[in-house]
Amino acid sequence: MYNLIEMDKQINIQEALDWYLWAGVDETCSDLPCLTAQKSFKVSVPSPAVAPAVSAKPTISVQSFSAVSKNARELCAKAQSLQELRDIMLNFEGCNLKKTAASTVFGDGADKARVMLIGEAPGADEDRIGKPFVGRCGKLLDKMFQAIQLERSECYITNVLPWRPPGNRTPTDDEIAVCLPFLKRQIELIEPDFILLLGGISLKSVMDTADSISRTRGKWLEYTISSGKKINVLATYHPSYLLRSTAQKSKVWADLLRLKIKIKEMHNI
Ligand code: URA
Repeated sequence: MYNLIEMDKQINIQEALDWYLWAGVDETCSDLPCLTAQKSFKVSVPSPAVAPAVSAKPTISVQSFSAVSKNARELCAKAQSLQELRDIMLNFEGCNLKKTAASTVFGDGADKARVMLIGEAPGADEDRIGKPFVGRCGKLLDKMFQAIQLERSECYITNVLPWRPPGNRTPTDDEIAVCLPFLKRQIELIEPDFILLLGGISLKSVMDTADSISRTRGKWLEYTISSGKKINVLATYHPSYLLRSTAQKSKVWADLLRLKIKIKEMHNI
């Protein structure tokens, strides 16, 4: 960023913040200020004259993108445990999102969990703390699960993307495709009986469908892993959507009851 820190030394901090906002800077990449020249990683900042809008997509050519994606699949296939997969993810440099994220947020929970929850991507709190669903959405998720007497410790919680998209923007299809092998390998290693997909991105990515979350939520689907095991899948609205549209709570409640009933049928509890 064009010597913003140097500017700070000369002008009032409030004026500097106003200026950042006016210039469209509404997100920080880190809690600590730094000069780009001192960064240990390379972020390709275009020259100001041709600077694209903030929402511009990362540029990976089709060829290099498919190579990166293939490489991710091959690397993930080698992982025989969640720990190995986590190490592979920590060393993986094929996704641009890693460059702006503070943490690599791997899944969390029991490695033989019967229920797996899949969200979209870490938010600001998750990025800072390094665990999935620890912010406002996570608190709501905890309450939702308490309501059906399911403890967080009995579940495994993860996201389609382990890196936070800047400003919580929607991930691109390329970013999803590069990260998907990590999620799919987590599913294979855990072999849960149930997957709850939280939101449209999770539904689209895992089930490879263009159907909307509003039409698909509440219907039982099936996901088959390489061992041949068929996993019961249910999609529901994302907690962040519920925080904005409380009117949808009753639908999510109905979906959670569906899940609870099916768990009872299968495990006789
Ligand atoms: N939203 C998500 O989809 N995942 C998180 O971990 C937090 C918020």
